[in-house]
Amino acid sequence: MRLFARKPIAELIAETEGSGLKRSLGAGDLIMFGIGAVIGAGIFGAIGSAAAGQTDAMGHVIRVGAGPALVLSFLLLGCVCALAGLCYAELASMIPQAGSAYAYTYATLGEVVAWIIGWDLILEYAVGNVAVAISWGDYFKSLTHGWLDLPIWLTTGYRTALLSADPAVHGLMESAPRVFGVPVLVNVPAFAIVTLITMLLLSGVRESARANNIMVAVKLIVLALFLVMGAQHIDPANYRPFAPNGFQGVHQGAAIVFFAYIGFDAISTAAEETKNPQRNLPIGILGGLGICTLIYIIVGVVLTGMVPYQQLGSTADPLAYALTATGMTSISRVVALGAVFSMAAVLLVFQYGQPRIFFAMARDGLLPRWAARIHPRTHIPHVTTALTGVFVASWSLIGDANETYDLTNIGTLFAFALVCIGVLVLRYIEPDRPRPFRVPFVWPVSVVGASACLYVMAGLPRLAWVRFGWWLAIGMVLYVVYGYRNSTLRSGKPQRG
Ligand code: ALA
Repeated sequence: MRLFARKPIAELIAETEGSGLKRSLGAGDLIMFGIGAVIGAGIFGAIGSAAAGQTDAMGHVIRVGAGPALVLSFLLLGCVCALAGLCYAELASMIPQAGSAYAYTYATLGEVVAWIIGWDLILEYAVGNVAVAISWGDYFKSLTHGWLDLPIWLTTGYRTALLSADPAVHGLMESAPRVFGVPVLVNVPAFAIVTLITMLLLSGVRESARANNIMVAVKLIVLALFLVMGAQHIDPANYRPFAPNGFQGVHQGAAIVFFAYIGFDAISTAAEETKNPQRNLPIGILGGLGICTLIYIIVGVVLTGMVPYQQLGSTADPLAYALTATGMTSISRVVALGAVFSMAAVLLVFQYGQPRIFFAMARDGLLPRWAARIHPRTHIPHVTTALTGVFVASWSLIGDANETYDLTNIGTLFAFALVCIGVLVLRYIEPDRPRPFRVPFVWPVSVVGASACLYVMAGLPRLAWVRFGWWLAIGMVLYVVYGYRNSTLRSGKPQRG
């Protein structure tokens, strides 16, 4: 039972006291914050594979595409995320702690599950950022095409070339320069943007609400431009067949494009800085989700109407591709520019969040103490910020976006499912604790929410499950070797459970 020791909520809250945070955010700020973290590589990049499906270099089908029925995938995901969002809102308003799902789980399901979630959140934050960085690199390439044409082996990661079904890309395995017989295939732009953002964060720069609002405006303007221009080039013939792979396509498309929704949960980390969290947190989480769902559905309709959906699978920058394919090259550049900014903002948010989760875990003794060090001048967890930067930058250099989307999605959906269950558990074990926000119809919301997350997970390729299993197994070994022995909670401090 000691493995399931729960951290008292009072203790979690006490940790946040004296943090000096001011309750200054309203519902509007939270909605903007959500849109800032959400709109990025998913809608600018992963949408292509979701619509067209994906095959590997040998021609094996990894997933079938949704086709124009992608709008149904977005709708399905909007509902799944709304259920999880409600649960996040209850826990965030009750346990306003920077560790987010990790902290909620520590209070509800106990230490070992909290460790698993903390470990799992690396998939959402750090591995997710690998995918965003690679997609950023693809749009950067499209933006600078014609005046900064780096050799293709300097803009394509080794894994992308290895896995690509496109003979021109896969052929790089043969044609790239070699060092000790190994093809040199590196994604320099992706590496560079992560390095730059890490340096910014290390210098103490925080994403401010104002900077975020500007980025959100850029995203919305660029997407509006895409919609207005794209809508004029819709060919209704592209909508037939509407669902070429039936519901299987919708399901598998949803499983990859779920990436586009990740980030609304990041609002929960602002719970301590929110005025009237009872009202504003649910509005922020659900309002942001609603707006993004609507935007995604319209983008899906326009994109699949502009070009035959099959063409979207072979391109890494589908929105820019569709504009170019319909003769709007200069608009395509503007959209690529907007995408580059949008994705940089997403990178910043997650590159900022990951070190803080590590920090919360180190403070609890589940990671080494040195990981919880705060820099005396910049007041940021500099050790974990630098480590996150090195991890994400190195992986981005050689990684593949589709592969990392899958891994991020499976990890995030798992965290969402546990948050849904956590709400219910806490209603029973701490029924009297004040809940500034209460999930309505908690039983159906939490049970259907958790099951829906598992259902979307089931649409991911088998390999993603195998890798996820390995990831959790490695995490468990680390817990046994380190966290279990060094946990602050079980070393004599007051505890329950
Ligand atoms: N939802 C974020 C994106 O699409 C992670 O980039």
